[in-house]
Amino acid sequence: MSNTPAPVPLCDINARYQFLKPQIDAAILRVVASGQAILGPEVAAFEKEAAAFCGADHAVGCGSGSDALVLALHALDIGPGDEVIIPPFTFFATAGAVCRVGATPVFADIDPLTFNIDPEQIEAKVTPRTKAVIPVHLFGQCCDMDAIWEIAEANRLFVIEDAAQSFGSDYKGRKCGTLGAVAAMSFYPTKNLGAFGDAGLVTTNNPDIDKKLRALRVHGSEVKYYHKYIGYNMRLDAVHAAALRVQLPHVANWLNGRAEAAKRYDRLIEESNLHGFMRRPVVKPDRKHTFNQYVVQVPGTHRDSLVKYLKDNSVGVEVYYPLSLHEQECFKDLGYWTGDFPTSEAAAATVMALPMFPEITEAQQRRVMEVCTAYLSQSLRKAA
Ligand SMILES: Cc1ncc(COP(=O)(O)O)c(C=O)c1O
Repeated sequence: MSNTPAPVPLCDINARYQFLKPQIDAAILRVVASGQAILGPEVAAFEKEAAAFCGADHAVGCGSGSDALVLALHALDIGPGDEVIIPPFTFFATAGAVCRVGATPVFADIDPLTFNIDPEQIEAKVTPRTKAVIPVHLFGQCCDMDAIWEIAEANRLFVIEDAAQSFGSDYKGRKCGTLGAVAAMSFYPTKNLGAFGDAGLVTTNNPDIDKKLRALRVHGSEVKYYHKYIGYNMRLDAVHAAALRVQLPHVANWLNGRAEAAKRYDRLIEESNLHGFMRRPVVKPDRKHTFNQYVVQVPGTHRDSLVKYLKDNSVGVEVYYPLSLHEQECFKDLGYWTGDFPTSEAAAATVMALPMFPEITEAQQRRVMEVCTAYLSQSLRKAA
């Protein structure tokens, strides 16, 4: 037998499939046998159950979190000539969706502790053309919503939550999905609730927006073959809805598993004496962080070599995100420069996500720490 330690994956999607295999297989086969592959009763039931989970009045299933953002913006009539304030430190889709509806993304820098958009920076970016702000609840922690609501109200802006990474998170006891006019969720396989493919959801408490979202996802049609809007094909497939329905009742438990794993990391980082080297995630006291990702910050010169070292030692690690959006090639025409968003740029240079999934064991987390410690002692030796 070899003494090589077992690899630690970044994420283990197969664990939840194995846990629920008979139910998931049966749900998928039920859809296949029904012949109702698109929308239909499974999607309607999932929408009802997901809305109840979030505490929202309405939920509209769609093809992905990216679709959900486009649908949300379009449903609020945001388009050419409008500006939408977003953080530059987020997944591309937040900005991509704004551009897809013809509006202009305007970046506002982030808070250095939580990596979420900084409300003070939002205020400085409001112009007469600003229509909305998209707080992205990054890595599973809600943004500073009180301050964002105040700015939005004073300037008559829509709040559109990008809750792609934070299904089940809450702010002062309110679940995300109910913290703005509309919210976009992703069920990409690695998310807090993951589909077996692409899937997404938009939530709202407004019945008119709900109606429009439902039309927009089927080519803008409320009555078949009569088109009120120029919409999209952004429907949720019934097989995904059926498999999501099986998983939804387990999400609360899985979120507990993530929270426990995060606490263990906090403790193990301390015990391994890595806390001077690796800054742990900061959790604000008035919200529930669901740890879709456990993201630490390490000094710039070390981050990339530590990432390589972890990968070389079969420990999963990922950098979300290595380049701030204002520096992306496709956004050159927006006219930003390196240096415009120093906090976002610093985060891009220093963050890394450690393996995180509800089923991760203490032994696996100890292995992650062991490899980080080995890296640190090796680099201290080299420096000596
Ligand atoms: C912050 C954020 N917004 C939007 C999306 C887009 O979701 P999807 O991949 O389901 O299109 C993601 C997905 O990773 C995300 O992390």
